[in-house]
Amino acid sequence: MKTGQPSRTAYQAARYRAAHQLLERGSIFPDPIAVPLLGESEETLLADEARRGMRLFIAARHRFAEDHLAAAVRRGVTRVVVLGAGLDTFAYRNPYPEIEVIEIDHPETQAWKRSRLEAAGVTIPANMRYVGIDFERESLGDAGLGESGLGESGLGESGLAGFFLWMGVVPYLTPEAFAQSLDAIAATPGNEVVFDYAQSPERMPAERRAWLEARAARVAKIGEPWLTFFEPEEIAAELHGRGFGEIEDLGPSGLAARFFGRPDVPAETPGGHVLHARKL
Ligand SMILES: C[S@@+](CC[C@H](N)C(=O)[O-])C[C@H]1O[C@@H](n2cnc3c(N)ncnc32)[C@H](O)[C@@H]1O
Repeated sequence: MKTGQPSRTAYQAARYRAAHQLLERGSIFPDPIAVPLLGESEETLLADEARRGMRLFIAARHRFAEDHLAAAVRRGVTRVVVLGAGLDTFAYRNPYPEIEVIEIDHPETQAWKRSRLEAAGVTIPANMRYVGIDFERESLGDAGLGESGLGESGLGESGLAGFFLWMGVVPYLTPEAFAQSLDAIAATPGNEVVFDYAQSPERMPAERRAWLEARAARVAKIGEPWLTFFEPEEIAAELHGRGFGEIEDLGPSGLAARFFGRPDVPAETPGGHVLHARKL
């Protein structure tokens, strides 16, 4: 990310969610705050109609994440940590008053988000707080000690199991920053995480690879290059190696079958994946 500036990919992801409210009436992922938070006219959002594939992937990844979150709350989880929160709106439409929400992000992105929330007239709930971290410079496990941060013992050793929403962030981290954050989540048994990841364009068929490489070039140009890719078996090994289990990993085929009534997408189709895992 460019120093001193809020994340531009955070804005783009939020635009896809907002366009989904208008173009598909939020059929996969309803979010009543998505459009007002941007302060953009509906006309400009509707102009993005063509980017349907990405928009539906983003809608499905958040539906997947919040379905798992709901199941975790039913199991008794009382803390949700939104990592690299961007303009995610869960905290502001949180239907579970008993849970605490912590948003963690780059301080610049957070400051920009708070001004957007204010402009949109969205109230900041009492059961949430913000912690500013640069994952490339600070480890999630050590960060935010003290009263304004994550609590006396930090995240890693708090002993309280939490649910980590880590959407749209992993591809932008270095492998080292990804590993450190995952280590911190793995420090507490019962912790759950959902994140999405991208398969490497190198292994894709030519047409798909060309499309992905063009997209990668666009995000690199705005200062947020994709740095980390995984194949499903690689990410499974990373998770098992840290003691995670109950892994559910949906790629294009699984997402199409679950959310779009399309059981016909071949199982090995490469693309974006979204995954849930629980530290045993
Ligand atoms: C594509 S946005 C996704 C935002 C949001 N989670 C969503 O799904 O819309 C990437 C987010 O990761 C955050 N991010 C990227 N690199 C980071 C880093 N090194 N430290 C902290 N946050 C980072 C950005 O600030 C941004 O909010």
